[in-house]
Amino acid sequence: MNDGGQKRYGPLGSALVIIPTYNEAENIKPIVARVREAVPEAHVLVADDNSPDGTGKLADELAAADDHVHVLHRKGKEGLGAAYMAGFRWGIDNGYGVLVEMDADGSHQPEELPRLLTALKGADLVLGSRWVPGGRIVNWPKSREFISRGGSLYSRMLLGVPIRDVTGGFRAFRAETLEGLGLDEVASQGYCFQVDLARRAVESGFHVVEVPITFVEREIGESKMSNDILIEALWRVTAWGVGTRANKLLGRKPL
Ligand code: GDD
Ligand code: MN
Repeated sequence: MNDGGQKRYGPLGSALVIIPTYNEAENIKPIVARVREAVPEAHVLVADDNSPDGTGKLADELAAADDHVHVLHRKGKEGLGAAYMAGFRWGIDNGYGVLVEMDADGSHQPEELPRLLTALKGADLVLGSRWVPGGRIVNWPKSREFISRGGSLYSRMLLGVPIRDVTGGFRAFRAETLEGLGLDEVASQGYCFQVDLARRAVESGFHVVEVPITFVEREIGESKMSNDILIEALWRVTAWGVGTRANKLLGRKPL
Protein backbone atom coordinates (compact mmCIF):
# COMPACT_ATOMS: atom_id res chain seq x y z
CA MET A 1 0.00 0.00 0.00
CA ASN A 2 1.33 3.44 -0.81
CA ASP A 3 0.97 5.01 2.61
CA GLY A 4 3.81 7.50 2.57
CA GLY A 5 6.46 5.10 3.75
CA GLN A 6 4.65 4.07 6.91
CA LYS A 7 4.54 0.45 5.89
CA ARG A 8 7.18 -1.93 7.21
CA TYR A 9 8.51 -4.05 4.40
CA GLY A 10 9.41 -7.64 5.11
CA PRO A 11 12.90 -8.93 4.37
CA LEU A 12 13.73 -9.66 0.74
CA GLY A 13 13.93 -13.36 -0.01
CA SER A 14 16.42 -14.73 -2.50
CA ALA A 15 16.41 -13.11 -5.92
CA LEU A 16 15.83 -14.68 -9.35
CA VAL A 17 16.95 -12.67 -12.38
CA ILE A 18 14.77 -13.73 -15.32
CA ILE A 19 16.29 -13.20 -18.77
CA PRO A 20 13.96 -13.88 -21.72
CA THR A 21 15.81 -14.83 -24.89
CA TYR A 22 15.07 -15.17 -28.55
CA ASN A 23 18.18 -15.46 -30.74
CA GLU A 24 20.70 -14.08 -28.28
CA ALA A 25 23.49 -16.64 -28.87
CA GLU A 26 26.26 -14.06 -28.84
CA ASN A 27 24.89 -12.23 -25.81
CA ILE A 28 23.78 -14.96 -23.41
CA LYS A 29 27.12 -16.06 -21.95
CA PRO A 30 28.54 -12.57 -21.34
CA ILE A 31 25.31 -11.28 -19.80
CA VAL A 32 24.91 -14.23 -17.42
CA ALA A 33 28.56 -13.86 -16.39
CA ARG A 34 27.97 -10.19 -15.59
CA VAL A 35 24.90 -10.96 -13.50
CA ARG A 36 26.74 -13.67 -11.56
CA GLU A 37 29.56 -11.22 -10.84
CA ALA A 38 27.34 -8.25 -9.93
CA VAL A 39 24.96 -10.14 -7.59
CA PRO A 40 26.65 -13.45 -6.73
CA GLU A 41 23.91 -14.59 -4.34
CA ALA A 42 21.13 -14.20 -6.93
CA HIS A 43 19.99 -16.98 -9.24
CA VAL A 44 19.43 -16.61 -12.99
CA LEU A 45 16.61 -18.09 -15.08
CA VAL A 46 16.97 -17.97 -18.86
CA ALA A 47 13.51 -18.23 -20.48
CA ASP A 48 14.25 -19.26 -24.06
CA ASP A 49 11.61 -19.61 -26.78
CA ASN A 50 13.42 -22.38 -28.66
CA SER A 51 15.72 -19.87 -30.39
CA PRO A 52 16.79 -21.14 -33.82
CA ASP A 53 20.33 -19.84 -33.19
CA GLY A 54 20.91 -22.25 -30.30
CA THR A 55 20.69 -19.80 -27.39
CA GLY A 56 18.88 -22.46 -25.33
CA LYS A 57 21.71 -24.93 -25.71
CA LEU A 58 24.28 -22.34 -24.64
CA ALA A 59 22.13 -21.59 -21.60
CA ASP A 60 22.06 -25.32 -20.79
CA GLU A 61 25.86 -25.31 -20.81
CA LEU A 62 25.90 -22.44 -18.33
CA ALA A 63 23.36 -24.22 -16.10
CA ALA A 64 25.40 -27.43 -16.14
CA ALA A 65 28.45 -25.56 -14.86
CA ASP A 66 26.74 -23.33 -12.27
CA ASP A 67 24.03 -24.29 -9.78
CA HIS A 68 22.81 -20.66 -9.70
CA VAL A 69 21.79 -20.78 -13.38
CA HIS A 70 18.53 -22.36 -14.61
CA VAL A 71 16.85 -22.66 -17.99
CA LEU A 72 13.19 -22.69 -18.96
CA HIS A 73 12.77 -24.12 -22.45
CA ARG A 74 9.61 -22.99 -24.15
CA LYS A 75 8.12 -24.46 -27.32
CA GLY A 76 8.39 -21.48 -29.64
CA LYS A 77 8.27 -17.71 -29.95
CA GLU A 78 5.29 -16.48 -27.95
CA GLY A 79 6.45 -13.00 -27.02
CA LEU A 80 8.23 -11.33 -24.15
CA GLY A 81 5.14 -11.22 -21.92
CA ALA A 82 4.44 -14.93 -22.13
CA ALA A 83 8.10 -15.77 -21.42
CA TYR A 84 8.09 -13.54 -18.31
CA MET A 85 4.79 -15.00 -17.08
CA ALA A 86 6.24 -18.51 -17.29
CA GLY A 87 9.43 -17.29 -15.59
CA PHE A 88 7.51 -15.59 -12.76
CA ARG A 89 5.44 -18.72 -12.18
CA TRP A 90 8.60 -20.88 -12.08
CA GLY A 91 10.25 -18.46 -9.64
CA ILE A 92 7.27 -18.20 -7.31
CA ASP A 93 6.80 -21.99 -7.33
CA ASN A 94 10.46 -22.40 -6.44
CA GLY A 95 10.25 -20.04 -3.47
CA TYR A 96 12.09 -16.93 -4.67
CA GLY A 97 11.12 -13.74 -2.84
CA VAL A 98 12.30 -11.34 -5.55
CA LEU A 99 11.73 -11.66 -9.29
CA VAL A 100 13.80 -9.45 -11.60
CA GLU A 101 13.17 -8.69 -15.30
CA MET A 102 16.24 -8.05 -17.44
CA ASP A 103 17.05 -8.10 -21.19
CA ALA A 104 19.80 -10.35 -22.56
CA ASP A 105 21.32 -7.85 -24.96
CA GLY A 106 23.25 -5.63 -22.53
CA SER A 107 20.74 -2.78 -22.61
CA HIS A 108 20.17 -3.35 -18.91
CA GLN A 109 23.42 -3.31 -17.01
CA PRO A 110 23.75 -6.05 -14.38
CA GLU A 111 26.05 -3.73 -12.43
CA GLU A 112 22.96 -1.62 -11.63
CA LEU A 113 21.12 -4.58 -10.07
CA PRO A 114 22.36 -3.91 -6.51
CA ARG A 115 20.77 -0.43 -6.67
CA LEU A 116 17.44 -1.86 -7.79
CA LEU A 117 17.51 -4.50 -5.07
CA THR A 118 18.43 -1.98 -2.37
CA ALA A 119 15.48 0.21 -3.41
CA LEU A 120 13.16 -2.80 -3.21
CA LYS A 121 13.82 -3.00 0.55
CA GLY A 122 11.43 -0.03 0.86
CA ALA A 123 9.05 -0.72 -2.03
CA ASP A 124 6.75 -3.31 -3.58
CA LEU A 125 8.07 -2.80 -7.10
CA VAL A 126 11.18 -1.04 -8.42
CA LEU A 127 11.32 0.19 -12.01
CA GLY A 128 14.64 0.96 -13.67
CA SER A 129 13.84 4.27 -15.35
CA ARG A 130 15.36 6.13 -18.28
CA TRP A 131 13.11 9.12 -17.90
CA VAL A 132 13.74 10.27 -14.32
CA PRO A 133 16.60 12.65 -13.35
CA GLY A 134 19.86 10.68 -13.53
CA GLY A 135 18.45 8.21 -16.07
CA ARG A 136 20.26 8.02 -19.40
CA ILE A 137 20.17 6.32 -22.78
CA VAL A 138 23.25 5.50 -24.81
CA ASN A 139 23.30 4.88 -28.58
CA TRP A 140 19.55 4.71 -29.02
CA PRO A 141 18.28 5.91 -32.38
CA LYS A 142 16.11 9.03 -32.13
CA SER A 143 13.22 7.02 -33.63
CA ARG A 144 13.25 4.55 -30.71
CA GLU A 145 13.57 7.35 -28.16
CA PHE A 146 10.55 9.02 -29.73
CA ILE A 147 8.48 5.82 -29.58
CA SER A 148 9.50 5.12 -26.00
CA ARG A 149 8.95 8.64 -24.67
CA GLY A 150 5.72 8.93 -26.65
CA GLY A 151 4.53 5.53 -25.39
CA SER A 152 5.24 6.47 -21.79
CA LEU A 153 3.53 9.84 -22.15
CA TYR A 154 0.46 8.37 -23.88
CA SER A 155 0.16 5.61 -21.26
CA ARG A 156 0.64 8.06 -18.40
CA MET A 157 -2.03 10.41 -19.69
CA LEU A 158 -4.54 7.76 -20.63
CA LEU A 159 -4.10 5.47 -17.65
CA GLY A 160 -3.28 8.14 -15.10
CA VAL A 161 -0.30 6.24 -13.72
CA PRO A 162 2.31 8.51 -12.12
CA ILE A 163 5.28 6.72 -13.70
CA ARG A 164 7.82 8.32 -16.05
CA ASP A 165 9.11 5.13 -17.70
CA VAL A 166 6.12 2.85 -17.95
CA THR A 167 7.43 0.64 -20.79
CA GLY A 168 10.87 -0.18 -19.37
CA GLY A 169 11.92 -3.78 -18.90
CA PHE A 170 14.50 -3.62 -16.06
CA ARG A 171 12.46 -4.21 -12.91
CA ALA A 172 12.47 -5.90 -9.51
CA PHE A 173 9.24 -7.27 -8.00
CA ARG A 174 8.56 -8.72 -4.62
CA ALA A 175 6.86 -12.09 -5.11
CA GLU A 176 3.85 -10.84 -3.09
CA THR A 177 3.48 -7.93 -5.50
CA LEU A 178 3.26 -10.22 -8.50
CA GLU A 179 0.80 -12.44 -6.69
CA GLY A 180 -1.28 -9.41 -5.71
CA LEU A 181 -1.67 -7.85 -9.13
CA GLY A 182 -3.71 -10.53 -10.82
CA LEU A 183 -0.96 -12.14 -12.87
CA ASP A 184 -3.25 -14.85 -14.21
CA GLU A 185 -5.44 -12.26 -15.94
CA VAL A 186 -2.61 -10.65 -17.89
CA ALA A 187 -3.13 -11.29 -21.61
CA SER A 188 -0.57 -8.89 -23.11
CA GLN A 189 2.04 -10.67 -25.18
CA GLY A 190 4.46 -8.10 -26.50
CA TYR A 191 6.11 -5.15 -24.81
CA CYS A 192 2.82 -3.66 -23.60
CA PHE A 193 3.08 -6.40 -21.01
CA GLN A 194 5.35 -3.95 -19.16
CA VAL A 195 2.70 -1.22 -19.21
CA ASP A 196 0.10 -3.76 -18.10
CA LEU A 197 2.07 -4.85 -15.01
CA ALA A 198 2.93 -1.26 -14.06
CA ARG A 199 -0.69 -0.06 -14.22
CA ARG A 200 -1.93 -3.11 -12.32
CA ALA A 201 0.65 -2.49 -9.58
CA VAL A 202 -0.45 1.15 -9.24
CA GLU A 203 -4.16 0.31 -9.34
CA SER A 204 -3.68 -2.43 -6.73
CA GLY A 205 -2.19 0.17 -4.37
CA PHE A 206 1.40 -1.07 -4.40
CA HIS A 207 4.29 1.28 -3.68
CA VAL A 208 6.16 1.67 -6.98
CA VAL A 209 9.57 3.37 -7.00
CA GLU A 210 11.56 4.49 -10.07
CA VAL A 211 15.35 4.27 -9.92
CA PRO A 212 17.44 5.96 -12.64
CA ILE A 213 19.31 3.62 -14.99
CA THR A 214 21.56 3.96 -18.00
CA PHE A 215 20.01 2.07 -20.92
CA VAL A 216 22.61 1.03 -23.49
CA GLU A 217 21.40 0.02 -26.96
CA ARG A 218 22.46 -3.50 -27.94
CA GLU A 219 25.68 -3.88 -29.97
CA ILE A 220 25.07 -7.45 -31.13
CA GLY A 221 21.93 -8.99 -32.64
CA GLU A 222 18.61 -7.36 -33.43
CA SER A 223 15.71 -5.87 -31.52
CA LYS A 224 12.53 -7.92 -31.74
CA MET A 225 10.41 -4.76 -31.70
CA SER A 226 7.96 -4.90 -34.62
CA ASN A 227 4.91 -3.09 -35.95
CA ASP A 228 2.68 -5.85 -34.56
CA ILE A 229 4.11 -5.25 -31.09
CA LEU A 230 3.54 -1.50 -31.40
CA ILE A 231 -0.01 -1.97 -32.62
CA GLU A 232 -0.83 -4.38 -29.79
CA ALA A 233 0.52 -1.80 -27.30
CA LEU A 234 -1.47 1.03 -28.81
CA TRP A 235 -4.83 -0.73 -28.86
CA ARG A 236 -4.44 -2.32 -25.45
CA VAL A 237 -3.36 0.91 -23.72
CA THR A 238 -6.25 2.72 -25.37
CA ALA A 239 -8.71 0.01 -24.31
CA TRP A 240 -7.40 0.04 -20.71
CA GLY A 241 -7.71 3.83 -20.62
CA VAL A 242 -11.29 3.74 -21.83
CA GLY A 243 -12.12 0.85 -19.46
CA THR A 244 -10.61 2.61 -16.44
CA ARG A 245 -12.58 5.78 -17.17
CA ALA A 246 -15.81 3.89 -17.74
CA ASN A 247 -15.34 1.99 -14.47
CA LYS A 248 -14.70 5.22 -12.61
CA LEU A 249 -17.86 6.73 -14.06
CA LEU A 250 -19.87 3.67 -13.09
CA GLY A 251 -18.20 3.48 -9.67
CA ARG A 252 -16.78 0.01 -10.27
CA LYS A 253 -13.38 -1.29 -9.18
CA PRO A 254 -10.81 -0.92 -12.01
CA LEU A 255 -8.88 -3.75 -13.87
N1 GDD B 1 11.63 -15.75 -24.77
C1 GDD B 1 11.43 -14.66 -25.54
N2 GDD B 1 10.38 -14.65 -26.44
N3 GDD B 1 12.26 -13.61 -25.42
C2 GDD B 1 12.04 -12.53 -26.21
C3 GDD B 1 10.98 -12.45 -27.13
C4 GDD B 1 10.12 -13.59 -27.25
O1 GDD B 1 9.17 -13.65 -28.05
N4 GDD B 1 11.03 -11.23 -27.75
C5 GDD B 1 12.09 -10.58 -27.20
N5 GDD B 1 12.70 -11.37 -26.28
C6 GDD B 1 13.88 -11.08 -25.45
C7 GDD B 1 15.11 -10.65 -26.23
O2 GDD B 1 15.88 -11.76 -26.62
C8 GDD B 1 15.80 -9.75 -25.19
O3 GDD B 1 16.54 -10.49 -24.26
C9 GDD B 1 14.64 -9.09 -24.48
O4 GDD B 1 13.52 -9.96 -24.65
C10 GDD B 1 14.30 -7.70 -25.03
O5 GDD B 1 14.09 -7.78 -26.43
P1 GDD B 1 14.65 -6.67 -27.45
O6 GDD B 1 14.17 -7.06 -28.79
O7 GDD B 1 16.09 -6.40 -27.24
O8 GDD B 1 13.78 -5.43 -26.92
P2 GDD B 1 14.00 -3.88 -27.16
O9 GDD B 1 15.38 -3.47 -26.87
O10 GDD B 1 13.42 -3.53 -28.48
O11 GDD B 1 12.99 -3.33 -26.03
C11 GDD B 1 13.39 -3.11 -24.69
O12 GDD B 1 12.93 -1.85 -24.32
C12 GDD B 1 11.48 -1.71 -24.30
C13 GDD B 1 11.07 -0.35 -23.84
O13 GDD B 1 11.49 0.63 -24.66
C14 GDD B 1 12.77 -4.17 -23.74
O14 GDD B 1 13.33 -3.97 -22.44
C15 GDD B 1 11.25 -4.05 -23.61
O15 GDD B 1 10.78 -4.90 -22.54
C16 GDD B 1 10.87 -2.65 -23.29
O16 GDD B 1 9.43 -2.53 -23.31
MN1 MN C 1 17.05 -4.62 -26.67
